[in-house]
Amino acid sequence: MAQPQSDALVVFGVTGDLAFKQIFPALQAMVRHGHLSVPVLGVARSEYNLEQLRARARQSVEQHGKFEPDAFRKLCGLLRFVGGDYEDPTTYERLKETLAGCQRPLYYLAIPPSLFTTVVEGIARVGAATNARVVVEKPFGRDLASAQVLNVTLHQFFPESAIFRIDHYLGKEPVQNLLYYRFANSFLEPIWNRNYVERVQITMAERFGVQGRGRFYDEAGAIRDVVQNHLLEVASLLAMEAPSARGDEAVRDEKTQAFRSMLPLEPSDVVRGQFRGYRKEEGVAPDSDMETFAAVRLRIDSWRWAGVPFYIRAGKCLPVTATEVLVELKRPPVALFPDCAAAPPNRFRFRLSPHVVLSLGARAKLPGERMRGEDVELIACHDQKDEMGPYERLLGDAMRGDQMLFARQDSVEEAWRVVEPVLGNATPLHQYDSGTWGPAEADRLLDNGGWFNPEQDWACG
Ligand code: BG6
Repeated sequence: MAQPQSDALVVFGVTGDLAFKQIFPALQAMVRHGHLSVPVLGVARSEYNLEQLRARARQSVEQHGKFEPDAFRKLCGLLRFVGGDYEDPTTYERLKETLAGCQRPLYYLAIPPSLFTTVVEGIARVGAATNARVVVEKPFGRDLASAQVLNVTLHQFFPESAIFRIDHYLGKEPVQNLLYYRFANSFLEPIWNRNYVERVQITMAERFGVQGRGRFYDEAGAIRDVVQNHLLEVASLLAMEAPSARGDEAVRDEKTQAFRSMLPLEPSDVVRGQFRGYRKEEGVAPDSDMETFAAVRLRIDSWRWAGVPFYIRAGKCLPVTATEVLVELKRPPVALFPDCAAAPPNRFRFRLSPHVVLSLGARAKLPGERMRGEDVELIACHDQKDEMGPYERLLGDAMRGDQMLFARQDSVEEAWRVVEPVLGNATPLHQYDSGTWGPAEADRLLDNGGWFNPEQDWACG
């Protein structure tokens, strides 16, 4: 059923890092595509005024997107600014005045989770939660119990249909393509299971460190920051069964089922690392034992996947910036051609960033008399120009009331159940040098051949 469109967008934390890196470029793109024409209210504690906010928006699109004069001018025309402390009730009164009669605002909480309750209570107190929607950023809570408390708080003021738990990975074109590729093709289904798949590897490597986000990061660490959400979401798309009914909710149901089949991680399934120099980053405790790298062996106890390990690895200050899924198939039962013995097995590669590539790696014979071959990659799909970015897609969806690409509370809770036993200091922390693939201890998680390290520029030509 068509939902009413939100008639204002209110961004809390508009002077923060997320707004600067992601939200302004997304808003400019929405304007350019004709998807945003309602007032955009920025709320922040800073002593800003509207002109300063526009100047910051301009810097943001220049540094993290592309300045587009027409779209930017229109965006500036939509911008409003409300400054004030989140604890101060008058901030919400001024917000309500600035909303000036808008009936169905969308509130985007781009603020630290510790402020969520204060802000939603403030909004509700002035009667501005009625008919509104709210977008909350991951991680949703710090563990299972706090995720449940956050959910109860949000539900005091907003019905479930108005709550959008944003995980920008779900809005990425290549992540959507995982779902599409799996269920739009029939050739995959017979082999997409424990009979043919040897193991799955998901690597999210980042060449950079914490980039001025030390304070946030030191409370999160790699497991809370990206494993519990982005990477388990990717694993759920790879592992899920075909939806048993049509429609968006059926897809979300199956994803939740996949989460339910994931066994809780045990300490022996996890290796944590911290890059040398992390403790000197601004905002990081000098004796911090927060991980900037995590390698995980996930077991999915389902009919389809029992016995197939899903290895997940994420880290800062690694040699490249690339996120990739590798699905390795079992080798043929008999090695008919000796040169195949040392060759990699057949494998699917899904490059999720920085560009999109889907491929199937196979062996093919080299021309000539001898039965010798080479590894070839059959590339199924490449980047497109002017692709819609995840924040643009997700903000547009939230304004239309479409929840398909947002995390549902039941799967969020399942994901916390999976990682909870290894949060904090449940496992030792190993140091590693920047520019390496993390601590050597991570290698011991894999029994049969090592990690597959994605190359920076694979297939981007
Ligand atoms: C964010 C994390 O959710 O995702 C960051 O907080 C991480 O630490 C980022 O760098 C990666 O997203 P992307 O889209 O740049 O791969």
